[in-house]
Amino acid sequence: MGAVRAEFSSRLGFLLAASGSAVGLGNIWGFPTQTASNGGAAFLLIYLVMAFSLAYPALMAELIIGRHARANAVTALRSLSDNPLTRFFGGLTGYAGILTAILILSFYSIVAGWMVAHFLSAIFQALGMMSLVDWLTGFSVHRNAIFTLVFMLFTTLIVSGGVRKGIERWSTLLMPLLLVILLLLIAYVFTQEGAMQGLKVYLLPDFSRVIDIQLVIRALGQAFFSLSLGVGTMLIYGSYVSKQENLASLGRSVTLIDIGIAVMAGLLVLPAMYVAQHNGVQIFDAAGKLISEDTLIFTVLPALFEQMGAIGLLISFAFFILMTIAAVTSSISLLEVPVAYVMENHRTTRKHTAFMVGGLVTLISLLITFNFKTLFGLTIQITTRYSEPLIGLLFCVFAGWVWQRNQVLQEIKSGFDNAENSLFWKVWPFYIRYVCPLAILAVFGHSLLS
Ligand code: PHE
Repeated sequence: MGAVRAEFSSRLGFLLAASGSAVGLGNIWGFPTQTASNGGAAFLLIYLVMAFSLAYPALMAELIIGRHARANAVTALRSLSDNPLTRFFGGLTGYAGILTAILILSFYSIVAGWMVAHFLSAIFQALGMMSLVDWLTGFSVHRNAIFTLVFMLFTTLIVSGGVRKGIERWSTLLMPLLLVILLLLIAYVFTQEGAMQGLKVYLLPDFSRVIDIQLVIRALGQAFFSLSLGVGTMLIYGSYVSKQENLASLGRSVTLIDIGIAVMAGLLVLPAMYVAQHNGVQIFDAAGKLISEDTLIFTVLPALFEQMGAIGLLISFAFFILMTIAAVTSSISLLEVPVAYVMENHRTTRKHTAFMVGGLVTLISLLITFNFKTLFGLTIQITTRYSEPLIGLLFCVFAGWVWQRNQVLQEIKSGFDNAENSLFWKVWPFYIRYVCPLAILAVFGHSLLS
């Protein structure tokens, strides 16, 4: 371990890095797709409730444990108590988080590779190189493998640069850009015929759907994935926050930014779908079900862009760059989880570790790529349906039950003098002890049964 542990340079540096982690394909692809296929505004409403009432408290648990321990998840969870049994389970939970981060990154980098291929295809289309465009946008093992490699190399290079010069620097550059592109795209789509119909579906809830338990469960899973919970990402980012910062307010800001961008992505994708429909692209089947739910953005949106002519190319380029940026800032946070662990516990250099671990993840990604049918969906299911909620639950249990309450308060008070009289301290400990574990158990139980 180095003599001085790395830290984000400022409050803003942390905010951009942590919201960079949170804002990813989950916000810009997952959230709008889920909203579109689960009753529009009804899903949005439940999602907001889940995110504020359950995901935010769980996020705080990770941030607080991380900053207290100033270490990776394995060391951090072990340090919360002297009891050998809880120390053992702490280590185990940390390892499970690291493994999950590696597996999530393995499929995430494949999807991110598609985004890279799509934004390049817009450039080559403008140059008239149509056979290259066909290869880039067609689904093939070679294309998938090459772009996964490219994307992982880029992610590894950033992480090898370190907390300030890699993660923080790139997040500070990319996150504002993401916001600008998103706003411009929304503004453009709103000028198109059909957009208002999409907006209505998105914003007017169909209350018959609100009580649907499936909807609640999906919204909870989506909120946890979106806030990067249950793998130790937020724990490790928390470990790089200065003791002078108010964690409760930082966590609140990250939650608001993450939710804000997901909601904005909905303002782009749902109206765009209805613009596409208005232009003759079929988006619902005869039964009224959304066509190709998962591949929505690779089918419906390109069909829409194509009809727009030259401006469509520009929009397509901007849209897939937006996706790529969102994916990069999330991927670096996923890679940082195993990298920080190996560096701290095996005293290796950051560069060496980043390339070693990045290489390992790339190998797993390639394994998935070459066995796409069997492994891709399976990896997504195991990690996002089972591991993330279960490990998220364990983080809450460690913060709420294992760790001593006055030590927790001590950590929160650092940078937040009046913490014990705050609303946060009145509500959060209860949430972390009872509400979050029970709610996550409900989700987990459900996914086991279904
Ligand atoms: N939050 C990211 C997204 O929305 C995904 C992610 C999950 C990143 C877990 C880090 C850890 O796409």
